[in-house]
Amino acid sequence: MMERIFACKADELEPGSTMTVEGESPVAVYRTEDGTWFASDDSCTHEQFSLGTDSDLEDDEVVCPLHMARFDLKTGRALCFPATVALRMHEVVLDGDDVYVVLTDSREQSAAASAQTAVGA
Ligand code: FES
Repeated sequence: MMERIFACKADELEPGSTMTVEGESPVAVYRTEDGTWFASDDSCTHEQFSLGTDSDLEDDEVVCPLHMARFDLKTGRALCFPATVALRMHEVVLDGDDVYVVLTDSREQSAAASAQTAVGA
């Protein structure tokens, strides 16, 4: 079951800026200079640091200001040290002026993995 959370009104987040949606698992929402929306888990994967609160966008990449790790927002891939683990990305859905984030379920992958095992067995 996918969970959809309300992030903001589209005009509340200027192009080139980011925000954090607080919750059980906080989510960072990014709006790039060209107006593309992305969302990921809020924390950098290197250490605990809120990318939604403070990070720098460069095209489709986000830079964590704490130790300058860089991530590709299209895939979540860590592009340079010190981060080696990908950001978990979430889907952004626009519904009129409302911006929603569809949370990627972390259990999905393990569920898929056990389904595989069941088929193989
Ligand atoms: S916490 Fe983000 S680069 Fe270290």
